Amino acid sequence: MEIGIDQISFFTPNLYLDLTELAEKRGVDPNKYLVGIGQEKQSIVPPTQDSVSMAANAASILLEQKSTEFLNSIDEILFASESGIDNSKSGAVYLQKLLNLKKNMRAIEIKQACYGGTFALMTAFDYVKLHPNKRILVVASDIARYGLKSAGEVTQGAGAVAMLVSTQPRLASYNWDSVFQSEDLMDFWRPLDQSEALVFGKMSQEIYEKFFYEIWQTYSQKNLKKVSDFAAFVFHLPFTKMGKKALDQINDQIDESKKDQLEKNRLAGQIYNRKVGNLYTGSLYLSLISLLKNNILKNNDRIAMFSYGSGTEGELYSLSLAADYRQAILGDPAQMIASRRKVSVDEYEGLFRAFPEDSEDHELTNSYDSSHFQLKRIKDHQRIYGDNF
Ligand code: HMG
Repeated sequence: MEIGIDQISFFTPNLYLDLTELAEKRGVDPNKYLVGIGQEKQSIVPPTQDSVSMAANAASILLEQKSTEFLNSIDEILFASESGIDNSKSGAVYLQKLLNLKKNMRAIEIKQACYGGTFALMTAFDYVKLHPNKRILVVASDIARYGLKSAGEVTQGAGAVAMLVSTQPRLASYNWDSVFQSEDLMDFWRPLDQSEALVFGKMSQEIYEKFFYEIWQTYSQKNLKKVSDFAAFVFHLPFTKMGKKALDQINDQIDESKKDQLEKNRLAGQIYNRKVGNLYTGSLYLSLISLLKNNILKNNDRIAMFSYGSGTEGELYSLSLAADYRQAILGDPAQMIASRRKVSVDEYEGLFRAFPEDSEDHELTNSYDSSHFQLKRIKDHQRIYGDNF
């Protein structure tokens, strides 16, 4: 029985910052951002979006036009986020209501930095294996915030990826080959009283590279696989250069005849991430969408997926593509990214400072935002969402 990702969709807010303009304002050579880090644009979050509304917007693309019978087969919503809106209540129960899903379901939030989306997916695969007539909705949604003028600023971003997990998947099936490892490390974290992440940037890159290298060695031995068994390696991309740094470590294991294909696919897999920025839990899955939309692959092509979450957890697993995988990417990610409105650096700084805190009541206007689901107000420490129509 095949189990995997049936359909996938993506949402990002409709504003962006041009990183050449940011570089000029920060007195940095733009090539540091464009070439050294490999980021060109960054999605900017209006006050009317947060991790829950973005997740609802991504998931609604997947669920529109589904029959009642289909919707009733969804037994769980797994909401992966490290920028959730509450320390206790799960973001998934807001999604259950916004998306009009049935009452008899589990609605759970999962956190382990950027790795949470992968854990949600693995949990969903296991559940569907035991309950083959059921489906799970996995949504990975985040706002990456490091702070104005911080070294991490150029690697901010925001967005959500939603996936339906089922048997007979139309996108790709899971090969039950995961290798994972974790270790208590302090490379990146966000204390409870802060809305911006703290990070040791160089250390975080070194640990990412080390985890990929170690996990790949174990994976290839355990699963008897070589680099040439894969059509592509897809990475969690906090910034696009990170994927290249990781893959370069196993360059000596890549057959000459395979180098061209892997490089083309690595570049295809970073096109959207270069323009959106880090979306933490959803980043690996945006990269998968980017690869599948920007290069032609074949039925049964095997894709290595490297998931990384600071703090630290890493996992490598593979997917095998279904025949009509392109039809299983719903919505139009390229169009969504291209139709965002550019904000100036001053406007971005104003929006960054206007990030609404729950300690005060706010009425949020939607003059920046045409998305379906929005955060409408914060009242008595509660977030109230609604649709825009
Ligand atoms: P920095 O100190 O500003 O940059 O921080 P740098 O001085 O290291 O330069 C960056 C690169 O640009 C270097 O290339 C320079 O040589 C190059 P490299 O040597 O690394 O290949 N460069 C230039 N290239 C062309 N022309 C120029 C030029 N000048 C310099 N003129 C850093 C960069 C990424 C560390 C910072 O932005 C940061 O701290 N970001 C946040 C942390 C991060 O993304 N870490 C990644 C791994 S951890 C992870 O993935 C988990 C995460 O997603 C969180 C989670 O799990 O929840 C972050």
